[in-house]
Amino acid sequence: TLTPSPADKFTFGLWTVGWQGRDPFGDATRQALDPVETVHKLAELGAYGVTFHDDDLIPFGSNDADRTATIERFKAALAETGLVVPMATTNLFTHPVFKDGGFTSNDRDVRRYALRKTMRNIDLAAELGAETYVAWGGREGAESGGAKDVRIALDRFKEAFDVLGEYVVEKGYNLRFAIEPKPNEPRGDILLPTVGHALAFINSLERPDMVGLNPEVGHEQMAGLNFPHGIAQALWHGKLFHIDLNGQTGIKYDQDLRFGAGDLRSAFWLVDLLENSDYQGPRHFDFKPPRTEDYSGVWASAAGCMRNYLALKEKAKAFREDPAVQEALRASRLHELAQSTLGEGEKLADLLADRSAFEDFDVEAAAQRGMAFEQLDQLAMDHLLGI
Ligand code: GCO
Ligand code: MN
Ligand code: MN
Ligand code: MN
Repeated sequence: TLTPSPADKFTFGLWTVGWQGRDPFGDATRQALDPVETVHKLAELGAYGVTFHDDDLIPFGSNDADRTATIERFKAALAETGLVVPMATTNLFTHPVFKDGGFTSNDRDVRRYALRKTMRNIDLAAELGAETYVAWGGREGAESGGAKDVRIALDRFKEAFDVLGEYVVEKGYNLRFAIEPKPNEPRGDILLPTVGHALAFINSLERPDMVGLNPEVGHEQMAGLNFPHGIAQALWHGKLFHIDLNGQTGIKYDQDLRFGAGDLRSAFWLVDLLENSDYQGPRHFDFKPPRTEDYSGVWASAAGCMRNYLALKEKAKAFREDPAVQEALRASRLHELAQSTLGEGEKLADLLADRSAFEDFDVEAAAQRGMAFEQLDQLAMDHLLGI
């Protein structure tokens, strides 16, 4: 069925359907959305949950009374609809104070403010039951070479996660951090630009177990990378804590198209991977309905994200169950990749003594074998095209 239900665990950021269409060249094309209305509309469409930056829910600079009232209204909408909040995050990019970053700004007072702003929203995230706290460092970076000493900025980045980790442990929250890489935009170059950079960084933290990834489809594709491969490696490291699904057509500005738009074949392999993995987390959409759309277009775009995911899930299942595909997988020797290269109990000395592995190995004959990948890939294409 292509009708979403909460069991599918589809979630949306308030800032996605709520994007008013402001871009570097033009003003807003849509009125602001009330988060309470968003919650009701998402529930109606079959979503499971909603996520937010602190400032999406509580306008920056609100006084304590307004803040409390806003949170209570939001909680009431959640209770009424059954929507949950599995993830929250901090806006460390809109206000001009963050022009040089939050956790890695050259200004120490700005970094201390960024930590406090984040901790305040971590309290709210925990109160609402979120288990993942996303950190997208859009302003952590530079436009010019001398502006940032990257090695020292990484010290400050590490310091931020170490302090925030200590805070979460001290408070006893059931919350893990998920770093969201992006190569550029809004900064000319952003720190931790890809999944690989972020994975390496996590190993240097004080509490590496508390920190994983929130990769976004379009961000890896902006760097020309294979998104399903990046996700597979994140899974392999046990670091896929959350995921931002959307669409992108190649190496250009961050398009944030609805999921399924952009590189459809990559989306197919991504769903095939996620559905055959142990990832149990939300399928979170981080997209921007184009500014050409009115609100009926916005909700059509949100519905389209879920519909495309479910359609690809059906296609992936049919692909894996097709006897012709199973035969093609055998012909491509995927089962052989699953065998260890050394035999069970085989020692290094045994490999060195095995003449069939080297001295008697017929290199030329092995080089002649076709891998049969084209037949396999055409079967995937046939399934995707429904022929
Ligand atoms: C982007 C980013 C942002 C972050 C979000 C969470 O498209 O550049 O995805 O949308 O995901 O702001 O902090
Ligand atoms: Mn994006
Ligand atoms: Mn994102
Ligand atoms: Mn986004």
